[in-house]
Amino acid sequence: MKKIRKAIIPAAGLGTRFLPETKAVPKEMLPVVDTPTIQLIVEEAKASGITDILIIIGRNKRNIEDHFDSNPELEANLARKHKDKMLKAVQETNGMNIYFIRQNHPDGLGDAVSTAKSFVGDEPFVIMLGDDIAKADEPLTKQLINCYEATGESTLAVMRVPHEDTAKYGVIAPTKEIKPGLYDVDSFVEKPDPKDAPSDLAIIGRYLLTPNIFDILADTKPGKGGEIQLTDAIDTLNKTHKVYAHELVGSRYDTGNKFGWLKTNIEYGLEHPEVKADLREYIKQLGQKLTEEDQK
Ligand code: UTP
Repeated sequence: MKKIRKAIIPAAGLGTRFLPETKAVPKEMLPVVDTPTIQLIVEEAKASGITDILIIIGRNKRNIEDHFDSNPELEANLARKHKDKMLKAVQETNGMNIYFIRQNHPDGLGDAVSTAKSFVGDEPFVIMLGDDIAKADEPLTKQLINCYEATGESTLAVMRVPHEDTAKYGVIAPTKEIKPGLYDVDSFVEKPDPKDAPSDLAIIGRYLLTPNIFDILADTKPGKGGEIQLTDAIDTLNKTHKVYAHELVGSRYDTGNKFGWLKTNIEYGLEHPEVKADLREYIKQLGQKLTEEDQK
């Protein structure tokens, strides 16, 4: 069985749910307290044993490249001033091989993934969406790699969502739970209307796929929203090669929309050593004030 060592991070979308912020700043660079979302994703990859990452970018996304480059003046300055913690923070993703490619038109996630064909070659690989993070004792990507090592087949990460939210996700139609949290799947449906949703198990931003997905993507016609949908290609793949679904053990955060990003910052802030005490106090006081306002 081939070792999983490559990941791709699609980050070429327009981020329209976060305008006007995303006019010139990629949503993948929005901070979670003090760290860009995409850095947390690269750290998850590193902690899962991934060594090579291809980041798919587009116009206005150049500062993602800058972020993963070294900054010699800054590093020399921090070293001179013995600011070791800060130096460590800016060197966190050193040692990873990070490559970039451009998706010329943001024609959908499936189209973005297609650009990674020659990077991936004939190895199974992981897709990590650039605006999705998971907090888990065992990194979510590692959870998928464990499933792959047990089954030798593609596996997607899923989680339960409120039924009325199914139209925001790809949703699976599970046939049976083979073992706790691992599902055999009949079909994968992109953004179903809640009345047609086959389950409440939604696909979240981590996919471990075998490379035969690329030939399928090449033949996939535009689906929902006129975009080439990765979910449609995975549904086709599942007809010839098994694609399992693994239920996330942990919590997932979507930083690509305003409310999701705010919640993420509050929850990560409550664990951040520099701000957690002040933030906790502030939230308590704010809660009290809001309760008083509601009682008026
Ligand atoms: P989203 O649908 O969340 O991203 O795609 P979006 O299209 O940028 O967002 P909105 O809906 O306009 O607000 C999930 C991930 O896939 C990437 C995005 O950058 C994001 O990280 N993506 C999406 C691409 O790389 N290319 C695309 O054509 C579409």
